[in-house]
Amino acid sequence: MRTPLVAGNWKMHGTLASGRALVGALSTGLADRDAAAEVLICPAFPHLAPIAEALDGGPLALGAQDLSDQPGEGAFTGDVGGAMLADIGCAYVLVGHSERRDIHGESDELVADKFARAQEAGLIPVLCVGETLEERQAGTTETVIERQLAAVLESLGVAVLEHAVVAYEPVWAIGTGQTATPDQAQAVHSFIRGKIAAQDATIAGGLRILYGGSVKAANARELFAMTDIDGGLVGGASLKAQEFLQIIEAAS
Ligand code: PGA
Repeated sequence: MRTPLVAGNWKMHGTLASGRALVGALSTGLADRDAAAEVLICPAFPHLAPIAEALDGGPLALGAQDLSDQPGEGAFTGDVGGAMLADIGCAYVLVGHSERRDIHGESDELVADKFARAQEAGLIPVLCVGETLEERQAGTTETVIERQLAAVLESLGVAVLEHAVVAYEPVWAIGTGQTATPDQAQAVHSFIRGKIAAQDATIAGGLRILYGGSVKAANARELFAMTDIDGGLVGGASLKAQEFLQIIEAAS
């Protein structure tokens, strides 16, 4: 049995005060419900430490949106190391989000390095993969996903997925309001699980694969009902407490 995971990616939004208010509303909302899903929030770097204090052993797990590809500590101006994130209470970190790949030119190899740094620091990496609209229209969705997965599998080995999460996020669905249909998403999730199962069926069976891309309260239930969809990576809708709580409920 895979415990569903619902992750809120707050991106570069809000103030510390608004983040604290959101945590308060989510904690209160979760206390009133019987949520079986694990819930993760990923605020921006400067908000992580104070938000970690606000979480105070409550039901929310904390994650960062990115980390340095550099090991240990050192002269890496502007970078934030995995050990620093673990030290202030992060349990998870996103790696390879499409906005990092697109806007910052992160390659599959760099993403694999970040994945390794995350695990070295004891963090659970959430490896984001997904195709662009052009790639989908060209019929290369599976080739793209396979290449993105292979960068991690070939350099680190399939065993690393025992302590990781994969998020399928079609780039054309992120922040566009255009969600993949449950069948479209399930097809890719099943492809991902199948690729991993070919190397290790037990690891594939236990791996949580999240869907991300315009997940909302209105579509979460039908997405999460699919066999290989184990929760969601939620951007915009995770900034609205009541909507995010409904999404968590849909995953529970
Ligand atoms: P969205 O973002 O839910 O706003 O589409 C998802 C993501 O980028 O993780």
